[in-house]
Amino acid sequence: MKSLLVLAALSSLPGVLTQGIRDVPVTRSGSVLYLDGSPWRAVGPNVYWLGLDENVIPPAGEPFYAPLNASYPTRERITEIMAVVKAMGGTMIRSHTLGVSTGNPLSLMPTGGKVNEAAFDAIDWAVYQARMYGLRLMVPLTDNFDYYHGGKYDFLRWNGFNLSRARDERNPAVQNFYTNSDVVAAFKEYIQILLTHVNPWTNLTYAEDPTIFAYETGNELCGPVWKDQNVPVEWIQEIGRLVKKLGPQKLFVDGTYGVNRSHLAIDEVDIYSNHYYPISINVLRQDLALGEYGWNRASSTADDDLASWFREIEKSPAIIGDAFWSLFGRDAPNACNRFVDHADGLTMQYGNPAHETRIQLVRQHFVKMSQGTTIAADAALPAVPCLAALAPAPES
Ligand SMILES: *[C@@H]1O[C@H](CO)[C@@H](O)[C@H](O)[C@H]1NC(C)=O
Ligand SMILES: *[C@@H]1O[C@H](CO)[C@@H](O)[C@H](O)[C@H]1NC(C)=O
Ligand SMILES: *[C@@H]1O[C@H](CO)[C@@H](O)[C@H](O)[C@H]1NC(C)=O
Ligand SMILES: *[C@@H]1O[C@H](CO)[C@@H](O)[C@H](O)[C@H]1NC(C)=O
Repeated sequence: MKSLLVLAALSSLPGVLTQGIRDVPVTRSGSVLYLDGSPWRAVGPNVYWLGLDENVIPPAGEPFYAPLNASYPTRERITEIMAVVKAMGGTMIRSHTLGVSTGNPLSLMPTGGKVNEAAFDAIDWAVYQARMYGLRLMVPLTDNFDYYHGGKYDFLRWNGFNLSRARDERNPAVQNFYTNSDVVAAFKEYIQILLTHVNPWTNLTYAEDPTIFAYETGNELCGPVWKDQNVPVEWIQEIGRLVKKLGPQKLFVDGTYGVNRSHLAIDEVDIYSNHYYPISINVLRQDLALGEYGWNRASSTADDDLASWFREIEKSPAIIGDAFWSLFGRDAPNACNRFVDHADGLTMQYGNPAHETRIQLVRQHFVKMSQGTTIAADAALPAVPCLAALAPAPES
């Protein structure tokens, strides 16, 4: 007996939302993540713009907030990026604006306590498309800075602390984000609104949908001194308890910028992380000595360094994954001949010949991490077409 391949006509295909692997949560045991009993590595890009973008001026008549160049990404752009991540061998995406959306008229919460339902459309579509493509999402809940998508300063300003990053980054009063009970309550209310929202494409709340495998306290959180790691333990616990009460299957990530030793015993935290600008294998090794559950985000402009950086990650069993900064696609469906660019010099565009060497390197790494193999992925990159206009979404 050798093996048998069964070919049979299917009279009807199962519905797209049948119970299946999409409904299985990623879990953690010790320093390893699992999906349905098998070790699972979280590898993919940062795609910060999935809920709200700042890099495309939309056609006249579309929602646009000119002072920040804020606009909603099209559904075609969102779907294209999912196909790109699959083609690159990624298993997940880290995306700021699926969780951080405060302080401007297009945000989920333009001003304290006020909800802008229209902002959910792009987020809903992104979560649904990630689910359809078998990708998982890691989502920060706020940001240390004052960028177009908002962050901790919004919650401070809404609660009587007139602070901004430009004036007050080193002002001890910024700690009120973690310590003032009104500010903490306002942030928790925001988390509650976000996690209990029902996605009309799936009828699941974000808390229920295992597509979002992890929520992160915030992006690069600090105290009054840059990289001081001064994020109070009590605050992390309180936010972690709320996230796990709403979504008992969510993994919880400490988004402190750097691995703070005094955070390693926090029960609510599943994953610690650090951001490496520039990449540094020495710092990575120190973090591993500290934490069992390292999460790492790499960025480099030197391909040689990137290769040895990836080798280091691949041989470290306590590293559950990494996410590079940052991925963009084409301006679909309006201008398929144009890649969207972000002017930080770190934009990766799949299909751009100038980025092909780097994409090969990243793809090799993703495949090794996600498939647990040392055999190199073949060099030919799968094509990802630019999407023509999708049918309009049904009225909700
Ligand atoms: C908005 O985009 C335009 C065109 O790219 C640019 O000139 C302008 O500086 C941007 N404004 C902001 C606030 O980023
Ligand atoms: C906030 O502080 C700045 C700088 O001190 C000041 O110009 C501005 O008027 C203040 N805004 C409010 C709403 O108090
Ligand atoms: C969501 O629930 C509504 C009401 O029960 C139903 O009409 C709709 O088909 C459901 N949508 C999905 C995607 O399951
Ligand atoms: C780490 O966290 C503790 C507790 O919140 C805080 O007091 C300390 O300043 C932080 N930073 C470092 C480098 O330990």
